Amino acid sequence: MYPVDSETRLYCLIGNPVAKSLSPILHNAAFRALGINAVYLAFCVSDPAAAVQGIRSLPIHGVSITIPHKTVILPYVDDLEPLAQAMGAVNTLYWQEERLIGANTDGLGAVLALKEKTELYGRRCLILGAGGAARAIAFALKTEGCQVVLTNRTGEKGRRLAEEIGVDWVPFGEVIRDKADILIQATSVGMYPDAEESLVPRQSLASFPIVMDIVYKPLETRLLREARQEGCLAIDGLNMLIYQAAAQFRLWTEKEAPISVMRREADAYLSGKGVSR
Ligand code: ATR
Repeated sequence: MYPVDSETRLYCLIGNPVAKSLSPILHNAAFRALGINAVYLAFCVSDPAAAVQGIRSLPIHGVSITIPHKTVILPYVDDLEPLAQAMGAVNTLYWQEERLIGANTDGLGAVLALKEKTELYGRRCLILGAGGAARAIAFALKTEGCQVVLTNRTGEKGRRLAEEIGVDWVPFGEVIRDKADILIQATSVGMYPDAEESLVPRQSLASFPIVMDIVYKPLETRLLREARQEGCLAIDGLNMLIYQAAAQFRLWTEKEAPISVMRREADAYLSGKGVSR
């Protein structure tokens, strides 16, 4: 690993809170593995406009944006990639000829995690949720040519999002009767400490050959455990997180991120065996 010296490039995360973020683990693992003289730090930021001034003047070479700044950051960038513009949310800043560009790799993370296991074109995908994560995934899967169906506990919110994106919508209560090639759980349900919660009854899971959960704490949510028991292919939320980080890494360095190294370090970190923070 390079020593931190006067040529070390700084990359960072801005959000609030950031203390539990896995992004520093993933990006620093990638920098180390590829011998890139760079570090990635997490900054807890309450004033994103001031943070962007800092990013411009220091300069910081690449930035991840997380909750609650993904939308409020939009007016402060020089250009938006079309997908980030359409989604109205940015999770990545990178430099292009001295212009600060806003991009969104959240949906791509889900697409790549799924593509590792299956073809996507033409597949019927049922997405649970209508928050930021569901929105990003729905956009990205529609772009991949999937037949996307949204559902959400608060029906009106789900229906509005489905209309905005131009995908189908089903009432939440009908999920147990629905069938789809892929079920994507895009809410926080099942996240530690409520790890025994699940939105889909076990007896309905056989209608979904592939089940992906965006939750990665725990790695095996109740939904994924029951999906495996029902013979479904279960995909955990860590792969989506890694692939969205890998897409950021490519924008910043023009290099392919070492996915297996990132996964190994994240697994070790989550299981408490420890890598340096
Ligand atoms: P994010 O931006 O991380 O996706 P969010 O905008 O807070 O988070 O959205 C959370 C999503 O999880 C919403 O779809 C929410 O449903 P509502 O719109 O009905 O609130 C969903 N959600 C959270 N807790 C839930 C629960 N206990 N049961 C069902 N859906 C839940």
